[in-house]
Amino acid sequence: MTDRILTATVVLSLAAVAAFAAPPTSAVGTPGKHAEDSCVGCHSKLEDSRLRAPAEAANSDVHHTQGVSCAGCHSGDPTSDDPAVAMDPKRGFVAKFTHKAIPEMCGSCHSNAAFMLRYSPNIPTDQLAQYRTSKHGQALATGDTNVAVCTSCHGAHGILPPADARSPVYPTRIVETCGHCHGNAALMSRYGIKGNEISEYKRSVHYAALVTKNDLSAPTCKSCHGAHGAMPPGISSVSNVCGTCHLSQRERFDQSPHKDAFAALQQPACESCHSNHAILHPQDSWIGMDDKQVCGSCHSTGDAGATAAARIASALGKASSADVTTLARVQRVERAGMLMDEASVKLEEAHQAFVMAQLEIHTTSVGRVEAQTKTVLGALAAADKLAAASETEIRYRRSGLFISLAVIALAMVLLILKIRAMER
Ligand code: HEC
Ligand code: HEC
Ligand code: HEC
Ligand code: HEC
Ligand code: HEC
Ligand code: HEC
Ligand code: HEC
Ligand code: HEC
Ligand code: HEC
Repeated sequence: MTDRILTATVVLSLAAVAAFAAPPTSAVGTPGKHAEDSCVGCHSKLEDSRLRAPAEAANSDVHHTQGVSCAGCHSGDPTSDDPAVAMDPKRGFVAKFTHKAIPEMCGSCHSNAAFMLRYSPNIPTDQLAQYRTSKHGQALATGDTNVAVCTSCHGAHGILPPADARSPVYPTRIVETCGHCHGNAALMSRYGIKGNEISEYKRSVHYAALVTKNDLSAPTCKSCHGAHGAMPPGISSVSNVCGTCHLSQRERFDQSPHKDAFAALQQPACESCHSNHAILHPQDSWIGMDDKQVCGSCHSTGDAGATAAARIASALGKASSADVTTLARVQRVERAGMLMDEASVKLEEAHQAFVMAQLEIHTTSVGRVEAQTKTVLGALAAADKLAAASETEIRYRRSGLFISLAVIALAMVLLILKIRAMER
């Protein structure tokens, strides 16, 4: 008796494995060839829009256009016009997928490297494996159906390559896609997740770059969390995540005493000062001990960090106000019609050094910041000197002009007097 149950179980599980291990070859057409089948033929004529929609989406579906038919996912027999045969469960036909079955179904092809190679050698085949390691996949395995499965992010019909701007996983659309769930604070609170990630991210410089500048190099949700392996970066990997794009800041942070100190305190690197989602444009005024400044949250008045903060703020303040004064002076001279090319070069030099000074903040080294602000002040002094020379020149020219005008006027008067005398 137990033997028979055992055999039945083995047969059933083998059948299940077979069903998932290999794509249903009967249902898969010639790679690159548009799939023509009875499923599309009949469904595109059905009254019920719920049944018709998948067939209508077929022409824009990467599967259909590459020769993978409806039966690639649903199985059944796409060569028969008889619905009882075409949609025969004995032919493997699946009318409805449970949430839990979807990743395995999509993975039956997408994890099969040999199969995918026939279509496109460039599409990776690790999605299911990665998905299983993600928070989504782990929760799904325990029976949680609120999490994302393949279709939550890609759709089920009309699936497009991620590089297609209409795809729900295209960089400018992904925020909305993750937002279906992560923007739902009530749902997220059940998991102890804040649920403000979407609204916070939308305030960031990253989002602004993405939508206003269409800068696709700005990070979206998947750049920091991964798509299939969706996980928050751990404390120790935040700086790696940010550092893949912000190399110079990361390099300096790694040289700072903060690197080891933060690690010991379980403080995430960049996030401690910049936050994770609402990353704003940083300003010099952030450096200091006030409530709204970044150093005060960890340092206390009088300690080495606070002293450094004060000196760094003062160095930047001096450089910045000198910059304002010199820039105004140079522009005034320029408006007076003088060529200020050489001074402009000096101003540019000062700006470059200023950017470097702001970057050096990440080392927390007063010396390194001051070395840059010294360069700033040096370049500004040079520009100021050039402006001063031009001002002298202007004064000289003005007085020269006044003298010549006076001489001309005098000559005219003399001339008039002379003419009058002659007339008389
Ligand atoms: C001759 C017409 C016809 C053909 C051929 C046909 N279908 Fe259907 N299909 C229907 C009709 C009508 C329904 C709704 C009634 C029902 O459930 O039987 C349906 C239902 C379905 C459903 C279930 C929808 C739901 O949620 O209940 C799926 C999935 C489906 N078809 C897929 C396929 C696939 C895949 C093929 C090809 C292998 C196919 N159909 C071939 C007419 C057809
Ligand atoms: C890439 C895999 C895939 C392909 C290809 C595919 N389907 Fe589906 N289909 C699904 C999944 C998954 C669902 C379940 C919907 C969900 O959970 O979002 C589904 C659901 C359906 C439903 C029920 C829709 C509803 O709203 O209840 C119908 C009808 C259907 N498919 C018909 C078709 C037809 C016809 C084709 C071919 C034009 C097709 N499918 C191609 C994966 C696929
Ligand atoms: C029957 C096998 C099969 C099944 C099942 C299947 N796919 Fe595909 N899928 C393919 C093939 C083949 C391609 C590649 C087409 C090509 O050459 O571009 C593809 C392409 C894709 C692409 C576009 C990749 C790219 O970079 O262009 C996405 C996204 C995708 N599938 C998602 C899914 C999802 C989600 C499911 C489940 C709902 C699924 N697939 C189920 C075979 C399958
Ligand atoms: C949480 C959202 C999400 C889930 C769940 C998800 N994907 Fe994706 N998928 C993405 C994103 C985002 C991309 C684009 C990745 C990129 O641009 O690097 C993508 C890309 C892909 C690609 C194209 C890969 C390439 O490099 O061309 C395929 C194929 C794919 N997914 C299949 C799947 C399959 C199969 C599943 C389920 C096992 C799945 N996806 C689950 C978001 C998701
Ligand atoms: C269908 C709903 C849904 C979609 C779409 C979705 N998620 Fe999730 N996600 C969830 C749920 C529910 C959880 C909580 C799982 C748990 O903690 O057990 C979660 C968890 C996460 C976590 C782990 C959070 C933590 O505190 O550990 C990350 C990271 C994540 N999702 C990122 C994403 C990204 C990025 C996208 C879009 C590419 C996305 N999700 C799309 C429902 C979704
Ligand atoms: C610039 C990188 C970055 C981007 C972009 C980003 N995140 Fe995060 N996210 C993080 C970091 C860092 C954490 C926190 C990790 C920690 O402190 O443990 C985090 C945490 C999370 C968490 C867990 C929060 C909690 O309360 O437990 C979720 C969920 C999440 N992000 C979803 C998203 C979604 C959805 C998007 C897109 C709108 C997104 N993230 C965009 C870096 C990013
Ligand atoms: C995928 C690449 C990428 C990742 C990952 C990334 N960023 Fe960015 N970041 C950018 C781009 C591109 C910009 C430029 C936006 C613009 O045009 O101003 C930017 C801008 C910034 C700015 C504003 C700079 C300024 O001068 O206004 C800060 C601060 C910042 N990122 C911090 C972070 C932090 C902290 C992380 C990690 C939590 C991170 N970034 C992750 C690409 C990235
Ligand atoms: C101790 C706090 C702190 C930490 C930790 C920190 N930053 Fe900053 N960051 C700042 C401050 C303050 C500024 C503003 C500098 C200014 O404008 O004067 C800034 C500026 C920036 C900028 C704008 C460009 C620039 O260099 O001025 C980027 C990008 C940036 N940080 C990225 C990062 C990254 C990536 C990390 C992690 C490797 C990180 N930051 C760690 C405080 C910090
Ligand atoms: C997340 C907490 C945190 C923030 C924010 C932070 N620090 Fe620190 N800092 C530390 C810790 C912890 C140490 C190592 C212990 C110590 O020396 O106080 C440290 C050490 C330092 C040191 C070396 C002190 C020494 O003894 O040599 C300097 C300098 C410093 N920080 C400057 C700053 C400046 C400037 C800011 C603001 C831009 C800042 N820190 C922001 C936590 C922080």
